[in-house]
Order: sequence, then C-alpha cells, then structure tokens
Amino acid sequence: MIYYFSGTGNSLYVARQLADALGERLSPMTFPPMTDNPVVGLVFPVYSWGIPNVVESFVSKMKHILKGKESREQGSFLYAVMTCGDDMGYADKVLETALGRKLDAAFSVQMPNTYVCLPGFDVDSKELCKEKLAKEGVAIKEIATCISDRKAVRRLKRGSFPRTKTYIIRPLFNRYLLTDKYFRVDAGKCVSCGRCRKMCPVGNIIVDETPQWQSHCTGCLACYHACPYHAINFGNMTQKKGQYNLLKLL
Ligand SMILES: Cc1cc2nc3c(=O)[nH]c(=O)nc-3n(C[C@H](O)[C@H](O)[C@H](O)COP(=O)(O)O)c2cc1C
Repeated sequence: MIYYFSGTGNSLYVARQLADALGERLSPMTFPPMTDNPVVGLVFPVYSWGIPNVVESFVSKMKHILKGKESREQGSFLYAVMTCGDDMGYADKVLETALGRKLDAAFSVQMPNTYVCLPGFDVDSKELCKEKLAKEGVAIKEIATCISDRKAVRRLKRGSFPRTKTYIIRPLFNRYLLTDKYFRVDAGKCVSCGRCRKMCPVGNIIVDETPQWQSHCTGCLACYHACPYHAINFGNMTQKKGQYNLLKLL
C-alpha cells in the first residue's frame, strides 16, 4: 500500500508511477490508515526541510498498525519517497520521529518547486520543470527496483546546512509562516468559481462569494497555484510570482 499526500500534484504523480511500477494500491493520507499490508510506502512533499503537518498527524495514527512489524526478515518494509523542489534537509529524521521508528528505505526526488511565499522563491522556469520531470521518470524506476529488492538504502539530497535548515529554520517557519491568515483575495479578480475549495486537499476553504480559510491549513499552496485568475495571494509576497499545478495534467 502506498499512502500519499500532495498539494499541487508532484507527489501524486510520483506515487502513481511508483504504484504502477510495483503493482501497489494508493490511498490518500487524508483518509485514516487502513491496512495491515506489510509493505508500506509514504509519498509526500518536503515542507521547510521537514514534513507537512497533515503527514505528521497521519503517521502518528499509523503507529499502532506498524507496531511489531519492524523486522524486514518477516517481510515488512516501510519506505518513504519525499518530493522536493531542491533539497530535503533531515525531513526523513522528522518523519522517523513522528513514526516512532526507523524507515527501511528513504528517497528524495527533485520535482518542480511550489514554494513562492518568501522573497527569492518562485516557481521554476518551464525548461527546468521539463528537466526535473524527465529525470524523475528515471529516478522512480530506480526507486521501484530498490523497493522490489527490499534494499535498505537512503538516496537523499540533504543539501547544504541540513541540520540548521531542519532544526533551526523549520521551527521558525512553522511558527510564523505556516498559516492561512496571510491569504488575500483580489475581489476584482475572484469569480467565486470554487476551484480553490475543490483543490484544497485538507478541506480548509469555504467559498462565500470569495474564499474563506478555516485555520487548519497545511501550507501546500494548492489554492494559490490552482486559482485560474491569480486572485489569491500570500500577503504581498506572491503578486508577481508564477503558478504551478501538475494536478491539471493528471
Ligand atoms: C510550504 C512549502 C514548503 C516547501 N519547502 C521545501 C523545502 O524545504 N525544500 C524543497 O526542496 N522544496 C520545498 N518545497 C517545494 C515542494 O516540496 C515541492 O515542490 C513538492 O514536490 C510539492 O509537492 P506536491 O505538488 O505534491 O504538493 C516547499 C513547498 C511548500 C508549499
């Protein structure tokens, strides 16, 4: 079984390819975990060199399912595939802390970037997106082989200063920037189409003429990226930033 979370489609794309290659079933992390399948995969995006809070609460519910299944010799295998725009710091360690156990294998896969809410961060150019997606296909084949062979490997792009990013910057990011209170709607552009509501993977938006966020945001930016009119912005940081949404193509 492969459990996935995806805001803008990258991780769903990866999870689907992996499920096809391995002949596994897929289930979104927004449903409760439901399997006692001994081989469990977790596919999700890296947020601030750590894991999204929706993933954290999902895996904490998995603990009882995984209890007593730590032995690879008994056929169990727990792995994670984390998509990121650039590098993932110690996101695997954050996941292991939430799981209360070690992963048997862990991989990071570079995908088009979706983080745009700070100066200096924007979506990738079309060329870079194409390049990353082309490499991703090859990476998934290699990952699928490792998983089929039950190889205990870590293929991770931690990047520079991973400890600082995960254990110093991330808590600050989560405290001050992981919030929906900065979302603004340009009422002149919003046509109340409800696309932001439909695309929000955690049901955090209601649309009453314009979208209203309900304070349980996981920070995926699906609403920002999916708006056909660029009517949603994060404070005044994103007016001139690009949008990206692979879900449109899936
Ligand atoms: C809130 C947020 C934080 C992010 N933090 C990181 C990060 O620390 N490192 C990185 O390389 N990419 C980061 N990204 C980019 C995403 O991890 C990447 O684009 C991912 O593939 C998006 O997956 P999805 O389309 O399945 O949601 C971040 C994106 C968001 C929305």
